[in-house]
Amino acid sequence: MRCFMLKNLFSPIEIGKVRIPNRLVVPAMVMNYCNGDGTATEKYVAYHEAKARGGWGLIITEDYAVDPIGKGFSNVPGLWNDGQIESHSTLTKRIHDIGGKIFAQIYHAGRQTGRVLIGCQPVAPSPIPCPRLQEIPHELRVNEIREIVEEFGDCALRVRKAGFDGIEIHGAHGYLIAQFMSPYSNKRIDEYGGNLLNRMRFPLEIVSNIRLKAGSDFPTIFRISGDEMVPGGRTIEDTKAIAAMLEKAGVNALHISAGVYGSAYAITPPAAIPHGWIVHFADEVKKVVGIPVITVGRINDPFLAETIIAGKKADLVAMGRASLADPELPKKAAAGRFSDINRCIACLQGCIGMISRGQPATCFVNPALGKEEELRIRPADIKKKVFIAGAGPAGMEAAMVAAKRGHEVHLFEKADRLGGQLYTACIPPSKGEIAGFIAWQKKQLEDHNVSIRLNTELTEGIVNAQNPDVVVVATGSTPVSPHLPGVERENVVTAHDVLEGKKDVGLRVAVIGGGMVGSETSNHLANHGREVTIVEMLPEIAADVNARSRPFLLKDLAEHNVKMYLNSTVKEILADGLRIERDGREEWVGPFDTVILAVGVEPCNDLRSKLEGKVVRLITIGDALSPRKALEAIREGYLAGFEV
Ligand SMILES: Cc1cc2nc3c(=O)[nH]c(=O)nc-3n(C[C@H](O)[C@H](O)[C@H](O)COP(=O)(O)OP(=O)(O)OC[C@H]3O[C@@H](n4cnc5c(N)ncnc54)[C@H](O)[C@@H]3O)c2cc1C
Ligand SMILES: Cc1cc2nc3c(=O)[nH]c(=O)nc-3n(C[C@H](O)[C@H](O)[C@H](O)COP(=O)(O)O)c2cc1C
Repeated sequence: MRCFMLKNLFSPIEIGKVRIPNRLVVPAMVMNYCNGDGTATEKYVAYHEAKARGGWGLIITEDYAVDPIGKGFSNVPGLWNDGQIESHSTLTKRIHDIGGKIFAQIYHAGRQTGRVLIGCQPVAPSPIPCPRLQEIPHELRVNEIREIVEEFGDCALRVRKAGFDGIEIHGAHGYLIAQFMSPYSNKRIDEYGGNLLNRMRFPLEIVSNIRLKAGSDFPTIFRISGDEMVPGGRTIEDTKAIAAMLEKAGVNALHISAGVYGSAYAITPPAAIPHGWIVHFADEVKKVVGIPVITVGRINDPFLAETIIAGKKADLVAMGRASLADPELPKKAAAGRFSDINRCIACLQGCIGMISRGQPATCFVNPALGKEEELRIRPADIKKKVFIAGAGPAGMEAAMVAAKRGHEVHLFEKADRLGGQLYTACIPPSKGEIAGFIAWQKKQLEDHNVSIRLNTELTEGIVNAQNPDVVVVATGSTPVSPHLPGVERENVVTAHDVLEGKKDVGLRVAVIGGGMVGSETSNHLANHGREVTIVEMLPEIAADVNARSRPFLLKDLAEHNVKMYLNSTVKEILADGLRIERDGREEWVGPFDTVILAVGVEPCNDLRSKLEGKVVRLITIGDALSPRKALEAIREGYLAGFEV
């Protein structure tokens, strides 16, 4: 069935000789699921199969290194030798069996990698380190450049032999090809540097070598950053000139992204960046070429994608993290099941957060990512009565999975609302999309007949009286009250109460604790016109916020004149302010109308202690087990629902 509201999105298009059935593209994303030698694993294949089943028009794999020294991550695929072809043929066969189309992205990381990973000095057009990785690369000699050109062609031929439908040349994000194209990283004065034509020599030689070896009929996309977003980097005007050259060279489509490692936020924009923020780059490129143009970047909704296509701003829309959050997005959109789509919230915790630590990617809202087979929801053999205490993210996820497996699920929540602390988390600026996830969980619970009992605390008495087969304790955590003189004063409140709108704070507020909760609460209040002062023991604030989102939070706090006392300990809460100790000296800070506590949480595990040894099966998950983050709570919820 086709949704009539999305008729542009679900119309076919050709890239070279390949017909793509709709305009929805999975862009390249390193998942770290392959073997260290670049061969495919079952996990890698199953991950892509889920996308093909989900109805994406085109899947572009993550970047296949053309040379082992061109690897940027540990467990990425490679096609730098013929021995690697077979495992990737298995991938393409299985995708084709489902009816999917799959292109391989190929690349060389150049200076955006490290000796620890590749075992030697990285290479680049000029001996200038990547500002993030800080390793001085070897300046490539002309003969070495020509060898790499040949490697791209050889790799493309292997891509074709492995059965892929086409290729994407990774000229974006500051990797080797991008390094050559940009005066930001290319300072050569030979035929590969200087003016634009010379800087384009390397990419154009690669395109020509690929066409020679893999065939001029082999569909080829070129990915490029529309703007590098660094001082001295390429702009969209440079990109338009380059786009015209690439079209002339025989490229069949262009994929317009943004950024380099020095502006990594632009490659994978955090939630502080608006939806579809670089669509205008694709629109600009479309004005100078006739080949299809793909856009990308914070697009997580089919209606947004439809508007882009209908408005002719791009020909295809890539949805990266949105496809991790819900591999079935196209299928659900086509069927008009919009509320069933689990949308990416751009938290970056599971995807970039994990791969940047060398771990396999996971997803906050989709714990089954990368475990599609292992965690596929199947009907339970025996139907059980499952009681779940707490409708935070952990309890809701457990209830959803258990109910989908056919169990009789009763979810008890002592508050009058679903979501637990994750609801509180959605209040500060840039966190609003979290509410969409809670709404999605709620819809799943309703659709799968979970009995939801709000304003009802699950007690030992209820358990004894109703005798469930399993009790899942997902009772979460509550704010800690520090042992501090003055903490009992009337104007002392918790960050949770403030965010939940239970306490008004007046104009001048002090926030004790500058971790994620304290700094986000401060940002919320500062954005609402309050004068905010943070007092934090550590030398920095928001240390537990992910690295891509943190600079946006800090900038927002600075723009709203939030005062910060770092390396400072509160000694006493006074009627008119705070007595703090900084650098061994005591000082008074104030005056404040309200003092807000954000000094951490402690687990609520009373119920667990009472039920231990008294019920057939007791499972504790999320913050009740140990206060961490929702990422862990949701994963443990899924596993609990899967195991009962
Ligand atoms: C401001 C803020 C921002 C945050 N931002 C992030 C973020 O960006 N990323 C992230 O990963 N995490 C974030 N967190 C942390 C995250 O919200 C928590 O780790 C997560 O909510 C824990 O989930 P949970 O289900 O284990 O517990 P909770 O969310 O604490 O839910 C437990 C629920 O159990 C209920 N309950 C307790 N006892 C009983 C009982 N006996 N019977 C019935 N109900 C009971 C409670 O009322 C509550 O609703 C944030 C937290 C806050 C406060
Ligand atoms: C975990 C992860 C890995 C990525 N790896 C690649 C990659 O291998 N090649 C590439 O061109 N882009 C890569 N990207 C960028 C995405 O293709 C995409 O451009 C980016 O995520 C923005 O789109 P989105 O907002 O739809 O996720 C990666 C993104 C993520 C989240």
